[in-house]
Amino acid sequence: MSLDAFERYPLLFGPSPVHPLDRLSDHLGGARIWAKREDCNSGLAFGGNKTRKLEYLIPDALRQGADTLVSIGGVQSNHTRQVAAVAAKAGLKAVLVQESWVDWPDAVNDKVGNILLSRVMGADVRLVQAEFGIGFKDSWQQALEDVRAAGGTPYAIPAGASDHPLGGLGFANWAHEVQQQERELGVFFDTIVVCSVTGSTHAGMIAGFAGQDRPRRVLGIDASAKIDETRAQVAKIARNTAELIGLGRDLRDDEITVLEGWAGDLYGVPVQSTLDAIRLTGRLEGMIIDPVYEGKSMAGLIDLVQRGDIPEGSNVLYAHLGGQPALNAYSGVFH
Ligand SMILES: Cc1ncc(COP(=O)(O)O)c(C=O)c1O
Repeated sequence: MSLDAFERYPLLFGPSPVHPLDRLSDHLGGARIWAKREDCNSGLAFGGNKTRKLEYLIPDALRQGADTLVSIGGVQSNHTRQVAAVAAKAGLKAVLVQESWVDWPDAVNDKVGNILLSRVMGADVRLVQAEFGIGFKDSWQQALEDVRAAGGTPYAIPAGASDHPLGGLGFANWAHEVQQQERELGVFFDTIVVCSVTGSTHAGMIAGFAGQDRPRRVLGIDASAKIDETRAQVAKIARNTAELIGLGRDLRDDEITVLEGWAGDLYGVPVQSTLDAIRLTGRLEGMIIDPVYEGKSMAGLIDLVQRGDIPEGSNVLYAHLGGQPALNAYSGVFH
């Protein structure tokens, strides 16, 4: 089967914008940096990478006769906010399990940003005490049971829409989109930098790019501070997705690169390099990134460019995966 054979429920405006970050590139003095903007990929509640993944899950949910999307994330999950938006758009209900993954002292952490938006959009938001983990959780099983007990038909979407048979398709399609945009722009991105946590964004890209003629590096930057789990999850989803879209060969280990060094000690807690990256990007480009994900992957990109690991002469594409609403829960670190 090829990617085209999978039904897609249109949620995006079209291809997400690609543009150069000239002042950041000049400041770092090496490779030329560009961004592809999933944060403005749609009109749905500030967009983000999950909106793209959900284009391939929604047809499956509708085929199964589901009336309620059930998903899980941290209290400030971008993913669950996008599930709420997509449910609203598709005329479905949403039950969202929001676990206390991040011990973050901001007084309004469970009131502003993503969780506020999910409440506005009418989702059934449930706060649960539990630790960070991207696997299958009891609280989520319970939510599925509750929907069934009330006579509904739930559709289960795991954390980040990742550990799902169709989870990698959205970003396999992103790889195809990049290739088309390169033709229009007359540029080739030899290096992609992407934040990785639940894994299917990076994994989908790997599978998608693997089918193209010209090789490139697709560098995942771990933001979960659990590097072994991230690597295992990315490898698993990349291989599943490659098979699903009929790549016709096994992925090599050297095609799956998840780098560590910028996550700090804990998921969801920014470190100095995260905050520096957020300020630098804001001050040079007016581009806003968040303290949980994109600030960490941007910190990685900055170091890789400055160290010459991404060499001068490279064109590097930074995948901006969204996530800005969470900034509201981190006001204490910016003053
Ligand atoms: C803004 C943002 N960036 C990066 C990621 C990481 O993507 P993934 O979970 O597919 O690895 C997420 C979600 O987890 C996110 O919301």
